[in-house]
Amino acid sequence: MVTQKLTPNQNGINTACEILKNGGTVAIPTETVYGLAANAFDKTAIEKIFIAKGRPQDNPLIVHIANMQTLGEIAKDIPKTAYLCAEKFWPGPLTIVLKRTDKIPSCVSAGLDTVAVRMPSCQIARQVIEKSGLPLAAPSANLSGSPSPTTANHVICDLDGKIDAVLMGENCDVGVESTVITLATNPPVLLRPGGITLEQLREVLPDITVNKAVLAELEKGETAASPGMKYKHYAPKTKTFLVEGENFAQFVNQKQNAVAICFKEESNNITIEKIIYGSSKTPKTLAQNLFKALRDVDDLGAQEVYIHAPEKSGIGLAVYNRLIRAAAFKVIKL
Ligand code: TXA
Ligand code: MG
Repeated sequence: MVTQKLTPNQNGINTACEILKNGGTVAIPTETVYGLAANAFDKTAIEKIFIAKGRPQDNPLIVHIANMQTLGEIAKDIPKTAYLCAEKFWPGPLTIVLKRTDKIPSCVSAGLDTVAVRMPSCQIARQVIEKSGLPLAAPSANLSGSPSPTTANHVICDLDGKIDAVLMGENCDVGVESTVITLATNPPVLLRPGGITLEQLREVLPDITVNKAVLAELEKGETAASPGMKYKHYAPKTKTFLVEGENFAQFVNQKQNAVAICFKEESNNITIEKIIYGSSKTPKTLAQNLFKALRDVDDLGAQEVYIHAPEKSGIGLAVYNRLIRAAAFKVIKL
């Protein structure tokens, strides 16, 4: 199939909505990463998402909405805490797992009795949801396993010829995916750190706990509370190590046939080839450039890449969570 590259003006948005209403797939920008959208009520359209991405059938999708009325159609037994979170963090990078109604086909939720819901803040995404009049199921618009796409070109690299269209928007502002919490359990649990920090969540959900898989590898045979956490993710083809500690420059300078992904502040002290992914003083910049750095590193043609780990607080927790997966849990502590 030929993938249409749509300019995100009114014309392009209208075309995207027509494709979605006819059961097609369209990659759309959001404030976190690009998403591959399809009508959440249409089983056949949902199947196309799984095929295009090569996504395992047991990994559920997030449903994107533009108003609170739609929430009532797709989720039930909604606790008061969900409305508190919605008021504080929606529209924005927070996904809430709730009990699912029968209106949402079970394949969207990979057979679970819950559904993950998010109201994005990106204006283009909101217009597509509103104008199509549909809740949109949308995972990140990358091939399963590769780094999430933060630019329209990343989407094209992975999915050209496999999806109906891409809305060619701007680069994504947050750069890592949404925070995923479940309010289908008591107490609430953080399943995936993201654009909304744990510190922010605690203001509304003081008893929230952190799922073990956020910072550690699941044991063999252990069930994942969020199926996405059990898969290898975000991995460059270059053998990847995550490095924690102060003397990063000194450590990597001794490495042969290796490259570094480092902070701006230390880059002058690093003598091997390197990619700067932001400033350790402003972790937001690390989140913004993380996935681009993971994609670019393979072009350098080295055998190994050493990545300097950020602090595990604020948005740094989300960056760290993606990096340990990119490194397949190979962590070096200096
Ligand atoms: O920022 C984002 O969340 C982006 C944009 C496009 O909205 N989407 C995204 O989707 O990252 P995806 O499919 O790449 O990640 C969704 C994550 C997966 O880890 C999945 O297992 C989890 O959410 N998830 C979805 N439904 C769930 C459910 N019912 N229960 C538990 N986890 C769920
Ligand atoms: Mg993804």
